[in-house]
Amino acid sequence: MNFQPTLAFAQQLDAQDALKNFRNEFIIPAENGTAKQYFLGNSLGLQPKRTKEKLQTILHDWAKQGVESFFHAEQPWMDYHDRLTGPLSKIVGCLPHEVTVMNSLSVNLHLMLVSFYRPQGKRCKILCEAKAFPSDQYMMETHVRNHGYDPADAVVEIAPRPGEHTIRNEDILQKIVELRDELALVLFAGINYYSGQVFDMQTITKLAQQAGAKVGFDLAHAAGNIEIQLHNWNVDFACWCNYKYLNGGPGAIAAAYVHERYHKDASMQRFAGWWGYEKATRFQMEKGFKPIQTAEGWQLGTPPLLLYASLLASLEIVEEAGWSNINAKRKQLTAYFWYILDEVNKTQASPIIEFITPRNEAEHGCQVSMNMLQRGKEIYTALMEAGYFVDWREPSVIRLAPVPLYNTFEEVWKFGEQLKKIVSR
Ligand SMILES: Cc1ncc(COP(=O)(O)O)c(C=O)c1O
Repeated sequence: MNFQPTLAFAQQLDAQDALKNFRNEFIIPAENGTAKQYFLGNSLGLQPKRTKEKLQTILHDWAKQGVESFFHAEQPWMDYHDRLTGPLSKIVGCLPHEVTVMNSLSVNLHLMLVSFYRPQGKRCKILCEAKAFPSDQYMMETHVRNHGYDPADAVVEIAPRPGEHTIRNEDILQKIVELRDELALVLFAGINYYSGQVFDMQTITKLAQQAGAKVGFDLAHAAGNIEIQLHNWNVDFACWCNYKYLNGGPGAIAAAYVHERYHKDASMQRFAGWWGYEKATRFQMEKGFKPIQTAEGWQLGTPPLLLYASLLASLEIVEEAGWSNINAKRKQLTAYFWYILDEVNKTQASPIIEFITPRNEAEHGCQVSMNMLQRGKEIYTALMEAGYFVDWREPSVIRLAPVPLYNTFEEVWKFGEQLKKIVSR
């Protein structure tokens, strides 16, 4: 599409936007009645208006009949989990019984490593991206130690080549081949939180499994952002939080995917709890763990209904908007965003923004990470003061993400105008 850097053009794109009414489903931060521009859905998605009502329903059930609500609420709490797994399975591309909603992302990654990191002899290494999110780094380090290995040897990080910002897929694949018999697990993000780079999950999975390793993904920045096919790509496990692109609220309940081939595998090791015990006999409180033969077999304890409710509010909106429509808008909105940012660079004698997120559509989602070549912190502060929510990552990166469910083309255009003003001062 031939874009134009004008307000009229941006407004025309908004007028044609099939999802334009969904912005009204969210509470847009505002000051003195004027909406601010929120580009931080990559960090914490905005609050759906219907979240309050969903939470109130749980509070009402609790007040009316206490614990009996598990079985006798209008929407019984016992079945609430099933209302979440269907929508989530469409978003990450798997079967509903391959998803379970539980805990936080960091906890779920630990639980998955108990099951999928089973080092033996020299097959003990974990391959991951350099600059993985810190929680993931600490998680790998401590699991490796727990098995008696040295993280300096057993955690192998693959970094961008000198002078580059993103990791080349060919380098990842070559490393998998190189490590082969030593590789126990490949654990990557679906999208790196810092650079916004999308990794080629399908190819990585195939090659790592051919080498005899298990493969998992941290989808914190990918779930609800890009198209994923966990089941068809044969991924072993994945975990994600639901508070970024999935708008489940601060500290929202997280989710995990386990490929169905492991559900009935009696040799799987795991850390168990009573909520993962087979449903028909759970309340007989017998000794000896019998897992539910779905991803729910990895659940631990009583579910937090208020967090379920908060996530349901958001997933209903995704269902109503349609996941494929959201993706179509995401592609157009981000393409326009890149175009507008190029226009900002053109106003300068030499570029002021270096993009560290790959420009190729298949290698990025909503997020754009801009390495500011001059006055980075000052520009970030000026944007925040002007009412633009963006985030700062040391030493010089501004991350921001236009989100298809609530951001508009006009906001993107305005952002460009504001940035031009700030950099020209
Ligand atoms: C890529 C990634 N992994 C892990 C985490 C940790 O998630 P949590 O704090 O919800 O456990 C985050 C948090 O932002 C993240 O971005």
